[in-house]
Amino acid sequence: ARLVVLISGSGSNLQALLDACADPAYGAQVVAVGADRDGTAGLDRAAAAGVPVFVEPVRAYPSREDWDRALTARIAEHRPDLVISAGFLKLVGPHFLAAFGDRYLNTHNTLLPAFPGIHGPRDALAYGVKLTGATLFFVDAGVDTGPIVAQVAVPVLDDDDEETLTERIKEAERRQLVEQIGRLVREGWTIIGRKVTIP
Ligand code: GRF
Repeated sequence: ARLVVLISGSGSNLQALLDACADPAYGAQVVAVGADRDGTAGLDRAAAAGVPVFVEPVRAYPSREDWDRALTARIAEHRPDLVISAGFLKLVGPHFLAAFGDRYLNTHNTLLPAFPGIHGPRDALAYGVKLTGATLFFVDAGVDTGPIVAQVAVPVLDDDDEETLTERIKEAERRQLVEQIGRLVREGWTIIGRKVTIP
């Protein structure tokens, strides 16, 4: 299966996928990595693995819609079976969702529907929950609202701060991402309403 991975940051989730794909039995290859900004560590990781990269900043386009169209076209060139947001900090638009809506996954660092948005672990800590985690889901038109593929729970420890909690979630999140993407590409999936079924 062909994976296109979208990133905005350090790319540790991307790295986990690149490492998994090195084993042919995994059943997938990262065929391209896209970012919305230059100069991120994730792009260096892709280059080091010999994977083609592209950068599509929103500000390079006259409107958000033009950007959405351009990003969609760029990804389509690589004929992906799955597009994976691994810390991609942009909401995609209607054009993108029309093209990839049934195969665009995101990983979020809380147990959705609690604490959507970009400060999930901080918000979970501030609320005082004792259990949080990571959620892998198919993206829909909302913010962190799409059909859920899998969740992993991570306890909040008494002495956690935002950094320690974020890091502990990321370890569980990476393992989940690799396991579940592997399952999806080997076994296929159907989405009916909010229910994701992997046969
Ligand atoms: C992940 O924890 C994701 O949930 C959050 O950003 C992080 C991405 O980290 N939105 P990385 O770039 O994969 O290291």
